[in-house]
Formats: sequence, C-alpha cells, structure tokens
Amino acid sequence: MRKQIVVGNWKLNGTKVLCHQFASGLAGYIGSVELVICPPATHIDCLVSAASAHSSTVSVGGQNVAAQSGGAYTGEVSAGMLRELGACYAIVGHSERRALFGETSEIVAQKASHLLEAGITPIICVGESSLVREGGEHAKFVGRQITEVLSRLAPSAESAVILAYEPIWAVGTGNTASSEQVQSMHAHIRSVAAPFINSVATRVLYGGSVTPDNAANLLALPDVDGALVGGASLELDKFLAVAGGC
Ligand code: 13P
Repeated sequence: MRKQIVVGNWKLNGTKVLCHQFASGLAGYIGSVELVICPPATHIDCLVSAASAHSSTVSVGGQNVAAQSGGAYTGEVSAGMLRELGACYAIVGHSERRALFGETSEIVAQKASHLLEAGITPIICVGESSLVREGGEHAKFVGRQITEVLSRLAPSAESAVILAYEPIWAVGTGNTASSEQVQSMHAHIRSVAAPFINSVATRVLYGGSVTPDNAANLLALPDVDGALVGGASLELDKFLAVAGGC
C-alpha cells in the first residue's frame, strides 16, 4: 500500500516567519497523508527546528542538491549537508533546473545517487513541454527521462525514490493536466520504471497547478500517490486543503 504524500515546493520564496507559521499550523495535523515542505536551503534548519518545537508532523526537504559530495564547488550544498540540516527528502530534476541551469539526466542521476547514499529520498521530476505533447511524443519523452535516470542508480535504490510527473505546460500556468492525461502518464511511468525499481511500491506524484479545487480529483486517480505543489504550498490553508483532497 502506497502512503499518499503531498510535497510543497516553495521555490525561491518563503521567510522564517512562514516557516514558523507552517510549523505551528501543522502541529495539530492528524490526516493520513504525509506532508513535506521544501523551503529554500537557507530555511531548512529553521523549519526543522520550528517543526520539532511545535511537535509538528511535517517533514522537510531540499529543492536541489550538489551533484558532488564535497570539494571546490562554490555555492553548492551537498546531500550530507542537507541530511545534517534534517532534510528527509530532496527534489531533483525539476523542469526549472533542467531548463534554467542545464541539469541533464546524468546530473539528475548523480544527485539522486548522493541523496540515496546520505539516506535522503530523492523526488525525481520528469515532464514534457507543450511542444513535445502537441507532437504526440510525450510518453516516449517522459519514458526516456525515467530510464536515463533510473538506469544510472544502484539496484539498491529499489522503492527508495519518489517519481514526480510535472508537465512543463502545467507548471505555474493554471493549466492543470486532465485526469485522463495524468492517469495514463502515471501508469506509463510505473511500467517504464519497473525494470529498475519496485515500481508497484514507488510513489508517483503529480505536479502542475494543483489547487484545492482540483486536488481531490487528481489524487483519487489509481496511479497518483500524491502531489508536488508550487504556488498553493505557500499558503497554509491552501496546502492543507490540497492534502485534504487525498
Ligand atoms: P505550481 O503548483 O505553482 O504549478 O508549481 C508546480 C511545481 O513546479 C512544483 O514543483
């Protein structure tokens, strides 16, 4: 049985005040869904401490990690450092990082490997552009992204990773993918991942304009095990409403 999980990706947003607001607001949370917030790296420590002070059930994750374990890489944050801060998860391969920072599948795999070694669960993002979808190549494209990353991980990765389908055309646009589009891609992802990981046990999340209004429908789909939420994760009420849709 796959436990549903809702992950908030704050991107380049958030303050210490917001960390405290979430930690105290989630303290009484008794839902069955696992909740994770990925603040900027500078705020992980603050959110972890605030969550612990409030006995909050929220877990904390990173939005990125270095592809190296240490050394002369100015500005980077390693998987070991994330672990030391108290992160249990980290996002890798987000479309913004692939497009704006040149993150290739090889780099995504290196990052995921370092996270696994550090005991952190990688949330591996994949997703096609509108051009690829309009050309009818989306299944092939996403399948290749999955294979390129998972084939580079050690066999021990098993069910220790989370996969996230985020069609680029749905991220931050208000154009959520339809239930049919999401279910068929998630089933495809599970079958493409099967040779590399225990894909029946692996959680596959949907991301892209998830809101309290559409969450319940998306999260009820058989191959959707949770959501990766951007904009709606910056407001406690909205984030909780999305999780309530599970
Ligand atoms: P939005 O929910 O704002 O579309 O962002 C999705 C996302 O990129 C989460 O990683």
